[in-house]
Amino acid sequence: MTADTDRRQALLQAAEAARYAPSVHNTQPWTWTVYPDRLELNAAVERQLTVQDPDAHMLLLSCGTALHHAQIALDAAGWQYRVHRPAGTPLAVIYPERHVGAHLEALRRFEQLRVRHTDRRTVNDSPLPAAALDTLVAAAESAGARLHVLRRDQIIDLAVIVEHAQQTESSDERLRRETAEWVGGDRAEGSGIPAANLPAEPPLTTVAERDFGTAGTLPAGAGHDAGATYAVLYGTGDEPVDWLRAGEALNALWLETTEHGATVLPLSGPTEVPYTRSELRRIIGGVGEPYLVVRLGMLDPVHHGPASTPRLPVDQVIEERD
Ligand SMILES: Cc1cc2nc3c(=O)[nH]c(=O)nc-3n(C[C@H](O)[C@H](O)[C@H](O)COP(=O)(O)O)c2cc1C
Repeated sequence: MTADTDRRQALLQAAEAARYAPSVHNTQPWTWTVYPDRLELNAAVERQLTVQDPDAHMLLLSCGTALHHAQIALDAAGWQYRVHRPAGTPLAVIYPERHVGAHLEALRRFEQLRVRHTDRRTVNDSPLPAAALDTLVAAAESAGARLHVLRRDQIIDLAVIVEHAQQTESSDERLRRETAEWVGGDRAEGSGIPAANLPAEPPLTTVAERDFGTAGTLPAGAGHDAGATYAVLYGTGDEPVDWLRAGEALNALWLETTEHGATVLPLSGPTEVPYTRSELRRIIGGVGEPYLVVRLGMLDPVHHGPASTPRLPVDQVIEERD
């Protein structure tokens, strides 16, 4: 294989690996264009949740997770690369520079891409060990955003904020209709959240999970969220590029959490609704712009979690050009 076909192959594989990235309602709102010398990421605005996410914040977070997936795949293929983030059109461009061979660590991280998933069951009573939490904070920081871990006495405050966001979103008829397009059933077309990934009944937690407006078939577990750790992903900027980077940090955090046998559940309502987002700003002491609330916790080691969510066919998200 020549160096050029080698590079192109690595870029194609990176775009394919990025298909497994998490996204709001599994909308997968991205497209990749593979050129011989670069990989371009664009937003697929036709898959934006225009009612729930008019500012495209969740779209950008989702594109950021895909961008991070692609970088992990290139690391595992042994490439050094440069990432340019115009955060307009395109959102980002990855330029591979040199093939140097992969570290074992990169290969291990790559394996986590297919292990990572969203689990909406209740978490164990034993909390994440403090040492593990430190590595999660470091993982988010190394990828460009910060993680503010909430104190126990702030959980009730958070529960109220989440509740307010849910009330605001549930009272919007257009938003409910939009959610219904993406959620429930078996989702044969490759996007959205199947019933098998949604709790059969609302879990008994202090901080409520998102109400998707429909019950699923997932046994949520008898647990509570007493062992959960809640945190806010935040940063200094509020521009599209900041949200994109926050998505990369979310993914870094999620993969690190997966390696610890732990789980991340994003709760995006509070940062989607302007009023509750400003309440979150207050909770984190005004240190920055909140991007996303996450619930961290240990998983049930005995029972299997939900099946994988579907993904769009390759030809809907990846295009090759000369
Ligand atoms: C930006 C973003 C926001 C999300 N918000 C929520 C949420 O509020 N509630 C929830 O249950 N899941 C949320 N998710 C999880 C997605 O629904 C999930 O990633 C998607 O369905 C794909 O499934 P997977 O993560 O198992 O691959 C969010 C994910 C992302 C990336």
